[in-house]
Amino acid sequence: MKFFLDTANLAEIKEVAGWGILDGVTTNPSLCAKENMAFEDLVKEICRYCPGPVSVECVSARAAEIVPEARKLAALSSNIAVKIPIGLEGLKATRVLSQEGIMINTTLIFSPSQALLAAKAGSRFVSPFIGRLDDISQEGMEVIEQILAIFDNYSFETEVIVASIRHPRHVVDAALLGAHIATIPYSVIDKLVKHPLTDIGIEKFLKDWGKVKK
Ligand code: G3P
Repeated sequence: MKFFLDTANLAEIKEVAGWGILDGVTTNPSLCAKENMAFEDLVKEICRYCPGPVSVECVSARAAEIVPEARKLAALSSNIAVKIPIGLEGLKATRVLSQEGIMINTTLIFSPSQALLAAKAGSRFVSPFIGRLDDISQEGMEVIEQILAIFDNYSFETEVIVASIRHPRHVVDAALLGAHIATIPYSVIDKLVKHPLTDIGIEKFLKDWGKVKK
């Protein structure tokens, strides 16, 4: 399973890259708005620290505008994946851009049918937002299961990025289903490694080490 970091914060990206488990980064306009840096400079810096795909979102609504905006974003670095929200205009643009070899991450996916259309249009990634589905009392993880089954039925190469992750259990459930990628906020990735019994165990071993004859 690949781990992407869901952030536009350079300090978080540098930190997790140092752990040796960073496969990519996903951003969106809300995450970029939290950073005090000009957008293009920020994107270029993120791409310097993350060798894997870095998702950056288009904000145009019509295909005729999405296409040039995406080309401009993709030109910022060779590892850019352009995020395009699902919709008919986005699908039209995805077809054109994917044929040019630009990686597209179709975002704001909330149903299996949306993911199927994005894959047919040539999207490299789809991003179902599971936390936001859970927020409205739907089962986000069921949508992941259905998308994975559909992609498997037809051997689509499109990878599923489980997004809008809120807690470690989301990561584990996504891994049990065989999702290709989880994009994880720093606050959650930090918790994946922790267990109180590990802390207690280390403390006891250190104490006992003090009693070992040396
Ligand atoms: O990758 C998508 C993610 O940033 C959305 O997360 O927590 O705003 O639903 P959230």
